[in-house]
Amino acid sequence: MKAAIRLTYGPPETLSIREVEKPVPSDNEILVRVHASTVNRTDVAVLTGKPYIMRFFTGLSKPTLPSTGTDFAGIVEAVGNNVQTFKPGDRVCGFDDQGLGSHAQYLALPATKAIITIPENITFEQAAASMEAAHYAINFLNKLEIKAGQNVLVNGGTGAIGSAMIQMLKNKGATVTATCRTEHLEQVRALGAQKVIDYTREDFTQENQQYEYVFDAVGKSTFGKCKHLLKPCGIYISSELGPGWQNPFLALYTPLTGGKKVLFPLPTNIKASLAHIREMWEQGAFLPMIDKRFPLENIAEAFTYVASGQKVGNVVLTMD
Ligand SMILES: NC(=O)c1ccc[n+]([C@@H]2O[C@H](COP(=O)([O-])OP(=O)(O)OC[C@H]3O[C@@H](n4cnc5c(N)ncnc54)[C@H](OP(=O)(O)O)[C@@H]3O)[C@@H](O)[C@H]2O)c1
Repeated sequence: MKAAIRLTYGPPETLSIREVEKPVPSDNEILVRVHASTVNRTDVAVLTGKPYIMRFFTGLSKPTLPSTGTDFAGIVEAVGNNVQTFKPGDRVCGFDDQGLGSHAQYLALPATKAIITIPENITFEQAAASMEAAHYAINFLNKLEIKAGQNVLVNGGTGAIGSAMIQMLKNKGATVTATCRTEHLEQVRALGAQKVIDYTREDFTQENQQYEYVFDAVGKSTFGKCKHLLKPCGIYISSELGPGWQNPFLALYTPLTGGKKVLFPLPTNIKASLAHIREMWEQGAFLPMIDKRFPLENIAEAFTYVASGQKVGNVVLTMD
């Protein structure tokens, strides 16, 4: 089978497509014929080993897994003797933010990992693109009590996390304002944002509007710049550490001062997120935004594009 392989941390050029042995599932594993995966921002960190903190999870001096890939969607081809939860023929998808080695045509992984079956109305590409960013969006939103009618700002409405978050906020009845560049205004409105600010023409931090929550889904702003946009007990959440890595410290300090505060939730419980994603699919309440598709052979190009910070939603990698 073909797999994207690298033996050291480094740029996309360290990856090459190689013929490797098809894995054989152990008693507790399933073997999946991967149809689609994505190249996402977490994959970029797994590939480059940056930020360095990532290496505590993916291998200190060199990557533990030779293949990249954190998510997959495909068909179960075989199951180990002890596996009761899946059977050959099941359409499944899954995610692990520490890496799965899923940029490959086949994947053997423990059946106890975060894996769900894919409903018939969802394609493999949609399933793979529903994993990483939606998991992070869920983990930002489930720390809050968002009520219908509350005003929420999402900076970066076309990011993978931002576009998932807008749909989830809409499901909760929030009134969403989002930012994006001119050519994406209609796309972001279609996701459920009531107001869209073109960040190439207007600075959202100069708005008069106040919000219960400000989500910086692309980490391009700071709490300092957004504080005046928050209502008295408003909350600022960013998907990034901040330019001086200040967000984790502000998340410890600001709750002690009363009033406006910063939250920096660490994404956990991938299984719960995947169960929630499946529910939203069934309710027709969430579909991932998909940008470009790349065949496995062009994986280095896909990584370069994703690392540029300009992808619009999710970038799909096809294995067929
Ligand atoms: N905390 C975590 O565990 C975690 C996990 C994954 C990712 N992240 C971080 O979260 C961030 C978002 O990831 P993602 O995959 O959702 O992002 P992404 O898809 O790579 O975001 C790209 C989008 O950002 C938009 N953008 C660029 N500059 C902007 C600006 N100044 N204002 C508003 N939008 C702007 C672009 O929109 P236009 O095309 O409209 O310009 C582009 O569509 C990244 O910084 C990533 O490193 C954090």
